[in-house]
Amino acid sequence: MTTSRYFTLKQFPEGLPKREDFALEETTLPALDHNEVRIRNRWLSVDPYMRGRMSGAMTYIEPYELRQPMSGAAVGEVMESNHPQFQVGQRVRHMGGWRDVAQLPGNEVEKLPDYDVPEQAFLGVLGMPGMTAWTGLNRIARMQEGNRVLVSAASGAVGSLAVQLAKSAGCHVVGVAGSDDKCQWLEERGVHAVNYRGKDVDALTKALKDASPEGYDVYYENVGGPLMEAALASLRDHARVAICGLIDRYNDTEAGAGPRNINQLLFRKARMEGFIVMEHWDFYTDFLGEVAPFVEKGAIDYRETIEEGLESTPDAFIRLFEGSNFGKMLVKL
Ligand SMILES: NC(=O)c1ccc[n+]([C@@H]2O[C@H](COP(=O)([O-])OP(=O)(O)OC[C@H]3O[C@@H](n4cnc5c(N)ncnc54)[C@H](OP(=O)(O)O)[C@@H]3O)[C@@H](O)[C@H]2O)c1
Repeated sequence: MTTSRYFTLKQFPEGLPKREDFALEETTLPALDHNEVRIRNRWLSVDPYMRGRMSGAMTYIEPYELRQPMSGAAVGEVMESNHPQFQVGQRVRHMGGWRDVAQLPGNEVEKLPDYDVPEQAFLGVLGMPGMTAWTGLNRIARMQEGNRVLVSAASGAVGSLAVQLAKSAGCHVVGVAGSDDKCQWLEERGVHAVNYRGKDVDALTKALKDASPEGYDVYYENVGGPLMEAALASLRDHARVAICGLIDRYNDTEAGAGPRNINQLLFRKARMEGFIVMEHWDFYTDFLGEVAPFVEKGAIDYRETIEEGLESTPDAFIRLFEGSNFGKMLVKL
């Protein structure tokens, strides 16, 4: 008899989620059905997009249902398999996260790609966040060598790869982050760092202009809010703004004001485009082929913030909004 412990939502959070919004529950799993796989999860991913799934409303993805098992990316080891493509002991990735043991149809499970990296890298630098950084820069912002590139949340899972990809493409890169440690890490990678904490729009605008007096050809947007306004004020002609995320707004209880200077898009003949990485997943093998060899040989420096134990999953998730993660936030089981 195998049990699975999993998180559910007790209620849809109001504002910043609280530990009490989540419940840890347990069930006995049924015998494996035809083509099913049972997986002992080793790593769980918590990601900012999950906040949108906790709103009870449809965004670009289904909301979580109250009192139903939550889901998210996870890496684990096959414990039992009724599917011809999976054998016991194999390491796999799937969306049955927020739990310790997952039972899924084999067509919802994938073997880890064959690169010599720690398995949890496939949830971060070589997983969805890494693919997002690559997609936003190359497919949305159409970054060119020599561009002046601005990245917000620049030490996070997406941002930390985005700044390094932009550097290796020969761009002048400015990264915005929320602590001196994070800024120091950026400077050590050759990225001009701006700490946004304690700065209003005017101070942010000045800091971004000081960091690149010529302005920016590309703005890789992870945050929104006052930072977006400061960035719009610093665009160059024909700039491209890739709207990847707007984390500053994810816990808002009512609609916030938009950037007051949206006219800058017109004046600078600039383009702003939102994207969702899953629509670009056909290019995942191109991304891996390009980026994974650099990760394998240590030429890309990626960080992880690791919480231990299934019980810590909600706290790990909440900490994303406090900026206490550096690089990819993970839960190790
Ligand atoms: N479009 C897509 O398909 C897609 C896919 C993946 C991720 N995303 C988006 O990309 C962004 C980054 O995701 P991630 O997984 O890499 O997370 P992350 O950057 O690793 O973690 C979130 C970081 O955001 C910063 N932050 C939180 N609240 C903030 C605020 N109010 N103002 C400024 N900074 C704030 C914090 O860093 P500081 O210490 O610097 O504040 C925090 O560490 C998110 O907006 C996410 O929704 C989009």
